[in-house]
Amino acid sequence: MNLVVISNRVARGKANEPMTGGLAAALLPVVEHSGAIWVGSSGRVRDGHQKEPFAEIEALGTGALATLDLPAAHYGGYYEGFANSALWPALHSRSDLIRVSQGDYLSYREVNAFMARALLRFRKERTAFWVQDYHFLALGAELRDLNVEDPIGFFLHTPWPVPAVIQGVPHHRELIEAMLGYDLIGFQTEEDCRNFLSYVGQELGLTIVDGIVISKHGRTRCQVFPIGIDAEKFAQYAAKSVSHPDVSRLRRSLNGEKLAIGVDRLDYSKGLVNRISAFDRLWTEQPQFLRSISLLQIANPSRGGIEAYGNLQNEVARLVTDVNGRHGEVDWTPIRYLNKGFSQAVLAGLYRTAQVGVVTPLHDGMNLVAKEYVAAQNPADPGVLVLSKFAGAANELDTALLVNPHDVDGMARAISIAASMPLTERKMRWEAMMKKLRGHTIQQWSADFVAELEKSRIEKPAVV
Ligand code: UDP
Ligand code: G6P
Repeated sequence: MNLVVISNRVARGKANEPMTGGLAAALLPVVEHSGAIWVGSSGRVRDGHQKEPFAEIEALGTGALATLDLPAAHYGGYYEGFANSALWPALHSRSDLIRVSQGDYLSYREVNAFMARALLRFRKERTAFWVQDYHFLALGAELRDLNVEDPIGFFLHTPWPVPAVIQGVPHHRELIEAMLGYDLIGFQTEEDCRNFLSYVGQELGLTIVDGIVISKHGRTRCQVFPIGIDAEKFAQYAAKSVSHPDVSRLRRSLNGEKLAIGVDRLDYSKGLVNRISAFDRLWTEQPQFLRSISLLQIANPSRGGIEAYGNLQNEVARLVTDVNGRHGEVDWTPIRYLNKGFSQAVLAGLYRTAQVGVVTPLHDGMNLVAKEYVAAQNPADPGVLVLSKFAGAANELDTALLVNPHDVDGMARAISIAASMPLTERKMRWEAMMKKLRGHTIQQWSADFVAELEKSRIEKPAVV
């Protein structure tokens, strides 16, 4: 079976570069080892009508990467507009941040249709298409309109909210009806899958039998496939990276003091303001933690052209300055705040250096950083993960210290407990999490999805 994977963001597999987000990080090893072709945006745009979309193709492990220049007239409305100013806030239950115009929606549909046309050249005799994430909700239906009868699956890397929230997205009916062009829709958690099916049942009035939606397109199976990581790779990176200059400089600078680490894109879903406020609360209410634990917060800038992201960047920078100004000393900085990315090999060493990992999104599809932090720990002396119960990862990593990311006091308490936890308890919690990570790799995730996708198309289409 010829597998074609499609996403907006792709990764080129350069070991010394940071990954932009969990989707690219997760798919890279899948493509490198499965021989798939990965099709995505080149990040460049092209003017005028393109008869034959331009694609650059390069090898990627046993697979290949094909990047397309997207149409200049529609790129902004598609990426910064509908995808990231309507769908992203809605999917993360932030209806207050939805900003959208009719033009954005039309551009989004144009880019989906453009991608469908571009994909035809990657079709071989037995092909399966696997579409990734909210940028391409309508791609399956566009392919069906081009008479593609191959299996087409979709995986959503973000959460799916309750029906009332998705109803806040203009054209929600049209879009979700288009999603039923897929044979298989994968979600990160049971809750996401349930929310989607509630919408389909209530709003579209369609019949659902055992997770299969019956529509004019045929059958669409909805199923949960929590995404995994390559835990062994992170463990190896972490063991090796202690000698990396960034990691050894960090270690030397700590002078025996404990370190907490946060690693996020600068995104309002990540709960950065509440997290920093929790550290402020900890140092204010429990001053014994001053000079005994500091925070390294890596906040990689993201989607900078969108107002909500610019506002967040200013707000976090102000808060860090304020907290450092109040609690800092001539020879002690409470928060080291870095607006840049690191390669995963270096990140693994930074994770291992930190006795506490703080992953406190307000809402997150999975959150791979949580899993990576665990995988990178030293088995003889593991750190403690403080994890939001609203990250998909909390379903598996249930022996982390689970917190409510809206409860600043509760988070401050959890950080103090994590920083003081005895070795036996740390080991017990860590071993339970590591067992789950080892039992569910990224390769397994993709094999499970593709196997189910092949089966889904074999089932006879429904007659309605
Ligand atoms: N990442 C990276 N360098 C950085 C920060 C993050 O390579 O400086 C990677 C990280 O290892 C992880 C991904 O980016 O694999 C972030 O995924 P996650 O699911 O945590 O969040 P997302 O950004 O997808 O919302
Ligand atoms: C999340 C999304 C991905 C996206 C990534 C980075 O992980 O689920 O689809 O690629 O964020 O965002 P960006 O807009 O830079 O691609």
